[in-house]
Amino acid sequence: MRYFLIIVLISLILGCSDESSSLIDNATAPTISDQSAMAVRNLDKSQIERGAAIYAANCIACHGQNGEATPDWRKAGADGKYPPPPLNGTAHTWHHSTEVLKKTILKGTPPELGSMPAWEDKLTEQQVDDVIVWIISLWPDEIYDVWYKNFEHVD
Ligand code: HEC
Repeated sequence: MRYFLIIVLISLILGCSDESSSLIDNATAPTISDQSAMAVRNLDKSQIERGAAIYAANCIACHGQNGEATPDWRKAGADGKYPPPPLNGTAHTWHHSTEVLKKTILKGTPPELGSMPAWEDKLTEQQVDDVIVWIISLWPDEIYDVWYKNFEHVD
């Protein structure tokens, strides 16, 4: 009888430890698959449309039809200023958080570095948010994925 109790106890202890290890497995499994999953864009379609219209009216002349702008954007002009960079994911727009992009658009860039105008007197903050969503919608999935995992996102 005593042996029986001991066996029951041992199997209970083993049973418990089995259960707790499977709990740990269950807890880590989704995290692992989350890390390997690509971030999926969940942008508001009507916001993209509003952003596209704001872009067409204000930004297209310098940054190009689809944000392709100046292919040679790394090279400063004769005046030492940088040309408008592509916004479509081929340059470094995706190295910046939403807040930095918003500030760049609202305030412009220092005149000695480039001629990105300040938009704070011409566009509302909502319009700037809309145009940023449009810009983000241009990026390839891989670029969006890296950006999303590095910064706060806008959706
Ligand atoms: C007169 C030309 C011009 C217009 C119009 C213009 N930009 Fe720019 N933009 C530039 C230039 C030049 C730069 C690069 C400035 C620098 O390197 O200092 C720039 C930089 C930027 C950047 C930073 C890009 C990066 O990779 O860091 C963003 C974002 C941007 N512009 C968005 C916009 C948006 C949105 C509009 C329309 C609301 C707009 N721009 C209108 C010339 C322009």
